[in-house]
Amino acid sequence: MSLRAGIDFVREAFRYQNRFAGSTMVFKIDYPLTEDPGFAYLMRDLSLLVKSGIKAAVVPGCSERIDAALKAQSIVSQYIGGERITTKEALPFVETAAFHAASRFITGLSASRVDAVIGNFVRARARGVIDGVDMQFTGGVDKIYTASLSRVLDFEITPVLPCIGWSPAGKAYNVPSDEIAFAASQALGAIKLIIVSDGPFLSPKDCLNLTLPPSIERDKNGRIIRLRPHEAETLLALSHFNDGCAAERWTGRLSLALRAIEAGVERVHIIDGREEGALLREIYSNLGSGTMVYADEQDSIRPIRNCEIADVIHLMEPFVQKDILLRRRAVDIQEKKDDYVVLEIDGSIRACAALHDWGEGQCEIAALASDAAFADMGLGARIVDHLIDKARKKRFKRVFVLTTRTGDWFEARGFFQDSVDSLPSKKRAVYNKARGSKVFSLNLE
Ligand SMILES: CC(C)(COP(=O)(O)OP(=O)(O)OC[C@H]1O[C@@H](n2cnc3c(N)ncnc32)[C@H](O)[C@@H]1OP(=O)(O)O)[C@@H](O)C(=O)NCCC(=O)NCCS
Repeated sequence: MSLRAGIDFVREAFRYQNRFAGSTMVFKIDYPLTEDPGFAYLMRDLSLLVKSGIKAAVVPGCSERIDAALKAQSIVSQYIGGERITTKEALPFVETAAFHAASRFITGLSASRVDAVIGNFVRARARGVIDGVDMQFTGGVDKIYTASLSRVLDFEITPVLPCIGWSPAGKAYNVPSDEIAFAASQALGAIKLIIVSDGPFLSPKDCLNLTLPPSIERDKNGRIIRLRPHEAETLLALSHFNDGCAAERWTGRLSLALRAIEAGVERVHIIDGREEGALLREIYSNLGSGTMVYADEQDSIRPIRNCEIADVIHLMEPFVQKDILLRRRAVDIQEKKDDYVVLEIDGSIRACAALHDWGEGQCEIAALASDAAFADMGLGARIVDHLIDKARKKRFKRVFVLTTRTGDWFEARGFFQDSVDSLPSKKRAVYNKARGSKVFSLNLE
């Protein structure tokens, strides 16, 4: 990471830190991660989040631990609709496994001196008889004891919710941890549900037989950065093209994310907990490290504000240094402020451009700059399309651009190379021959 990128990350992290302090987040963490060499780092990062003021509730996944515990007792589980039937014989081993998994988190958090407690915050109800089969000691969430859980969080204690719930009569049930994570996120009004899994979400290998819609944003490594609910639904609908085992892994996580979003959680993040620092990068940076499912409008193109002029100059600087863009001072931008638009993602300016009126029915797209950290994610195209739309609405006949090195990019967007003579007279008068910029035009009529 360059020094500039490092400083930008710290700035971004502070912005998010201020925003999230005092908010509640629920962390559903897969059991196999507790056996990963990186678990201690994951717990250290979770502790940092707690110490920075985030109220964290932890829901440990446990199915692999339960599988191992039952296997050791030669107990074979039956499943209905993918859910284990917890028999009377199995229940004590399931309870032990659940508390064993939870205690690993207590141990991990203790190493960073974060107060944590395993609690009975889930009231459970028997699943009952499904299709004529008694699910016995398998239950669902009847209620989250929100007041108790909130009290614990207000005391800066991290609650750990094992995959066990209790009926009002004091009977224990095995409750799926996904269901507990969902119900706890909803009951606590969590701003985020973070699903920390023991592998990548929809790795390029998982995608082999899937043709993803082009609107789905991916980075250079094929990671899906964010998904709106309708895109998540499209993906789920495509899952039958994926082979059974792989599909089960990612569809389960995506279904949980979608349910949580529909229930009002603002954002759900699915991250690979084996990647060092994944948790901090996902929460404290725009680009994150995993996949975010979100319902809110997290980006927008809008006019520049005075307080953002410095951000725009900062954004242009790498292009100025390469002589791709002309240097603009704050006063230059201030003078033409109404011409500038910015593309904001989660409170940070990631692209900018201006539309200048030169008379004779012609306007110029200028000062285009898109954050290199967000390259190839369509930001440049979106801001230019926005300005072309604006130019059309203002009934300009032609929009042009002067560029030294971005001609191909504009040609790919329908512009064609034009002559300096085609420029409106006022622009021709200030055309810098020494710079030798090429003219590209787009007819709007
Ligand atoms: C060109 C620029 C807008 C691209 O930003 P971006 O946010 O990555 O844009 P998009 O995601 O919409 O486009 C990316 C595509 O353009 C291609 N591309 C990027 N820079 C390019 C260039 N200079 N020439 C040709 N193609 C280019 C990428 O390879 C990618 O192609 P793909 O979609 O086939 O993978 C950005 O690099 C920039 O701001 N450059 C300086 C702009 C400039 O010259 N301003 C002065 C004139 S106003």
